[in-house]
Amino acid sequence: MRYTLDSHVKRDPRILSVYLEARRLYGEKNPCHHNFHHVIRDLYRALVIAAEEESVNYSILIPGVLLHDIGFCDPNFKRVGHDVTGARLAQELLAGLDYEEGTVEAIGHCIRAHKGKAETPSTIEAKILYDADVLEKAGLTYLILGGRIVCEFEETIEDFLEREISDRAKELKKGFYTRKARELDGGRLAQVKSLLSQTRKEIQQERPDYQVRESDLWEKPLPEAVGPGAEPGL
Ligand SMILES: [Fe+2]
Ligand SMILES: [Fe+2]
Repeated sequence: MRYTLDSHVKRDPRILSVYLEARRLYGEKNPCHHNFHHVIRDLYRALVIAAEEESVNYSILIPGVLLHDIGFCDPNFKRVGHDVTGARLAQELLAGLDYEEGTVEAIGHCIRAHKGKAETPSTIEAKILYDADVLEKAGLTYLILGGRIVCEFEETIEDFLEREISDRAKELKKGFYTRKARELDGGRLAQVKSLLSQTRKEIQQERPDYQVRESDLWEKPLPEAVGPGAEPGL
């Protein structure tokens, strides 16, 4: 089976409008990780998962996946989270593209629920998006993609590890909603959590050199080198 968008666009041409608008918006901001490439990977996974589920509404699922991380394109997303911010942005965008209120709300739910925090996925489309997005983290490739997140969030490796290990633990406790996602995971999410925990332990107990900062090399601080924003850390 081919997991392509053509037949969906033929049935519902609004999907192409959302696709092009999403590509434009992510492209303008072009975050290191939460960009259109990430969205394309999630969309492919969502189509693979959806093919094995009953009664999936692709006019909800595809726009939901395309717009699920659009909140990162808003500079103020941290106030309420990129999930809630993204749902608001998406609903504004969809209202201008001839989407009826019920569909806009269903897509909004998918986006608000894709982290499983602001809302819990309650529809099959929201469950598929949640699973597709968690699967991004369920593979060794995520250890490479993690570097892009450190770059995008301008955070230290320690902060990245603390958040990611905590998030993986919550995702593992919750589990996947769909059978296909469980099959694709194949225990990889747990493996990634274990490797992230090993990395944190190594840095904390054996390799402090990975978190050394410029100021650690000086007894007296250098005026031009010390201060807010002068030392981003690893
Ligand atoms: Fe997200
Ligand atoms: Fe995502």
